Amino acid sequence: MSSNPDLDRLIPRAGTGSVKWEYREGAVGHGSTLVPAEDPDVIPMWVADMDFPCPEVVIEAIRRRAGHPIFGYSVGPPSYREAFCDWMAARHGFRPDPDGVVPTEGIVPDLGLLVRTFVEPGQGVVLHPPVYFPFFGAVRNNGGRMLLCPLRREDGPGNASANPYRLDLERFEKLAAEPETRMTFLCTPQNPVGRVWTPEELTAFAGIAARHGLIVVADEIHGDLMLDGRKFTPWLSLDHPAGLRSVVCSAPSKTFNLAGLKSSCLVIPDGEMRATYRQARDRTGVYGVNPLSAAAAEAAWRGGGPWLDRVLAYVSENARTLQRFFRDHPELNVRTVPVEGTYLAWLDFRETGIEAGALEDFLLDQAKLRLESGAIFGDEGRGFARMNLACPWPLLTEALGRLEAALRG
Ligand SMILES: Cc1ncc(COP(=O)(O)O)c(C=O)c1O
Repeated sequence: MSSNPDLDRLIPRAGTGSVKWEYREGAVGHGSTLVPAEDPDVIPMWVADMDFPCPEVVIEAIRRRAGHPIFGYSVGPPSYREAFCDWMAARHGFRPDPDGVVPTEGIVPDLGLLVRTFVEPGQGVVLHPPVYFPFFGAVRNNGGRMLLCPLRREDGPGNASANPYRLDLERFEKLAAEPETRMTFLCTPQNPVGRVWTPEELTAFAGIAARHGLIVVADEIHGDLMLDGRKFTPWLSLDHPAGLRSVVCSAPSKTFNLAGLKSSCLVIPDGEMRATYRQARDRTGVYGVNPLSAAAAEAAWRGGGPWLDRVLAYVSENARTLQRFFRDHPELNVRTVPVEGTYLAWLDFRETGIEAGALEDFLLDQAKLRLESGAIFGDEGRGFARMNLACPWPLLTEALGRLEAALRG
C-alpha cells in the first residue's frame, strides 16, 4: 500500500555511478575496494542513500546556479550557515550559532581529521558498537586507541515492542575515567540499530563526558530522519557544559538524498577548538566548497521540509510493513527492532540457524539481496544484517518475498 505514488516508482540508477546499484564491496573498506556488481538480479539494500528523487527545490537550485557559467573557487556563503541554523530551529526547536558552523565535504573524512587534530597518538576514543563502521577506521587510522563500549540490550517481556538498545553508561564512565581517554563518538540517532536517544540518556552521557573532560563528537547526520513523528534532541540543545567541548556533525546528505554532492558541516561551538580544527584542515590542503553542492544544500534546508515530511511518512510505513511481516511469520525466526530514527532496519538472523559467517552469502546467493553485513558494525553485529528501507514499497515487498522463500528453502 502506498501513501505517495511519486515515491512508488523505481528510478533506474544504472549509468549514474551509483555505489549501491552498480558496485559491491571487494573487501570491507570505504570506497577504495569497490568492484562492479556482476548480478543485475540482486536487489541492493546496503548503502545508506535513498532510491527516491531528491526535492524539486534542490534540482531547481542546481539548475539556477548552473545558469551562471563560472564555477571558480567558492566558499560556503554566510547564507549557507544561516540556512542550516534556520532549518535546525524550524525543525528541531534549536538554533546553533552560525559562527560555529564549518562547511565541509563529508563527515567520514571529518571524523578522521578530528581524531588527528584532538587526540594524541595512543590516546583513547570510546566507541559504542554496533556502530557505523567508518568510526573504527577514523580512530584506528589516525593514531587513536579504540575503547569499545558496546550497546546493551534490554530485551524482556515488558519491553517487547520497544527498541531494546541502550548506551552502557556504567562501562562508559569506567572507560572515560581512564587517564588517556580523550574523545568519544556518539551516533545520534544510532546507525545501525535505529535508536533515537532520549534527552535523559543524552544528558547522562554528557555528564560522564564532562566529568572526565572528554571531547564528544556527536554524529547527527541522521538527525532529521525521525520516524512516526518522533522528536529529535540535538546534542547542543542540552545546554550542558559537555557541549562546549563538542563537535556536532551534520549534513543535508541523508535527509535530502544528496550524498553524492559531498556536502556536510560541523558545528564547533568553542572558538579555540574551531580555530585548531580549521588550521588542521588547512594543512590537508582541502579548501572551499563545491558551489553546486552549496546551492543544493541551502535550497534543501530552505525549502525541503514538505518533501521530507512525505518521505518520512513513506519510510515509516515501510518500517511498519517490515515489522508486520516478521511478526506475521515468526516461524522464519528473523527478529527486528522498531526503527525509531534513520531509514535503516536491523535484522537479527541469529535464531535462523544460518551461521553468522555465512549470512551475507546466504542473502546474496539464496535471496538475491545485498544487505549490509551486521559484522562490519562490530562483533556485536555478527548474525545481523542492515536493510535500507528508503526505497519504493514494491521493492521492499519483493525483497521480503525473496527472503521468505530463501529462509523456507
Ligand atoms: C552515522 C554516519 N555518519 C556519516 C555518514 C557518511 O557521511 P558522509 O557521506 O558525509 O561522509 C553516514 C553514512 O551512512 C552515517 O551513517
